[in-house]
Amino acid sequence: MIFLRSANTTDIDLILKWENNRENWSYSDTTEPYSRLDIENLIISLSRDGSVQQRFMICKQKGGVPIGAIDIFDVNKKRNCASVGVLIESDFNRRKGFALAALNELEQLCGKNSIEKLNAIVHNWNTASLNLFKKAGYVEIVVEKDLIKLEKCIKK
Ligand SMILES: CC(C)(COP(=O)(O)OP(=O)(O)OC[C@H]1O[C@@H](n2cnc3c(N)ncnc32)[C@H](O)[C@@H]1OP(=O)(O)O)[C@@H](O)C(=O)NCCC(=O)NCCS
Repeated sequence: MIFLRSANTTDIDLILKWENNRENWSYSDTTEPYSRLDIENLIISLSRDGSVQQRFMICKQKGGVPIGAIDIFDVNKKRNCASVGVLIESDFNRRKGFALAALNELEQLCGKNSIEKLNAIVHNWNTASLNLFKKAGYVEIVVEKDLIKLEKCIKK
């Protein structure tokens, strides 16, 4: 139903557009626009061995235009855990099961990389995201102010 591939230099303009879409800033820690160089450096850092972050572009099919992105970050190889964040950019593509499919697909990739536990940190007002992660099998573990931390053990 969806296809994930690693972000690469062909995605720089799209990622820059998404990162600088102020509507998306409330879901992340972003407070200032990124430059093209910032995104170029991000792509370079993602491809480095030992990177603690990976970004996958979500496409409806192989070779298709990306409709969103899913990241794993804060990868902790000692504890075999990582954090996850996901974006489906346009309203047109939302509520069609793409984010849920991307989370499921990500678990397969994580399994291959020995990640056994994923967690997500979501604002308490972000009903779409909370429902998404719960539907994907994540459970709430901590509430801190307006943030809810959820986790899922993916070890088979
Ligand atoms: C959260 C987000 C990724 C969901 O993407 P999506 O592709 O629309 O989600 P899906 O279609 O896979 O939905 C899966 C489930 O999530 C829940 N959900 C998704 N959107 C919802 C909404 N607007 N309201 C309530 N529940 C919602 C539902 O339980 C849904 O299952 P259902 O359609 O069978 O009821 C998308 O709304 C988004 O990109 N939001 C902005 C970024 C963000 O909040 N990211 C998460 C922070 S980590």
